[in-house]
Amino acid sequence: MALTLAEMAVEVLTCGDALQKVSLGRAHAAAWLASRAAGVPLAVGRAEPPLQPARPAAPELLDPRDVPRRKPGSLAGRQAMLHAVAHIELNAVDLHWDIIARFCDQPMPLGFYDDWVRAADDECRHFLMLCDCLAAMGSHYGALPAHAGMWRAAEDTMGDLQARLAVVPMVLEARGLDVTPGMIALFQGAGEAGAVAALQVIYAEEVSHVAYGSKWFNWLCGREGTDPKEVFHDLVRRYFHGSLKPPFNEEKRADAGLPPDFYWPLVEARGQGG
Ligand SMILES: [Fe+2]
Ligand SMILES: [Fe+2]
Repeated sequence: MALTLAEMAVEVLTCGDALQKVSLGRAHAAAWLASRAAGVPLAVGRAEPPLQPARPAAPELLDPRDVPRRKPGSLAGRQAMLHAVAHIELNAVDLHWDIIARFCDQPMPLGFYDDWVRAADDECRHFLMLCDCLAAMGSHYGALPAHAGMWRAAEDTMGDLQARLAVVPMVLEARGLDVTPGMIALFQGAGEAGAVAALQVIYAEEVSHVAYGSKWFNWLCGREGTDPKEVFHDLVRRYFHGSLKPPFNEEKRADAGLPPDFYWPLVEARGQGG
């Protein structure tokens, strides 16, 4: 018997080895997409995802305040920056498979699963590209400590699909669109062509992940007859810990279907200038 999509998701989530996780993720994504292309989709099915995904023994996960900071201008600083992005990508692999398994009891069109399978597959490639960049710089994923709080947004929103869409793709992944051009410039300045190329691919592809988020968020509002902007503000205020921080990448956010009146009202006024 072929695995259902939900069972595939749980296999990825419970795999603790990073390289095995991404190769399993890529194989499962290919199987799902091939079944869809052939017109005989695999069953979505039901499965129980773990509360937290399995992770490798290294990197050591630390409170962000305890993760050592390194000068961005130095080689060590650039290694640390790519290591942090690799950690975000591996977490994103789990986030996308988790949204598939976590909410499989709610009927959604098959296109919803196609989108998150594609996004998960993108994150696997992003992680592998960054591993190559780290190797070229004499480092590897696991060489440095990493941020322990990455799964918090998933835990906070495990009971609410719309809140998950609002917080993960539409807030956190949209934040990636804001900060990636600065990182690309930093690696360009250092003459690191490999890292520049990898970050440019990531930057281009992340737009679609934010777009999948806003597409299905709006779709759910349409099904329920609610106002997307009002629901977005309400859910982000309830489920996201922190305020949104400008400057925003207005152009890429617009490409991803995220209009300014969604995010500007969530900027905390007292945070400005301080
Ligand atoms: Fe990514
Ligand atoms: Fe992403």
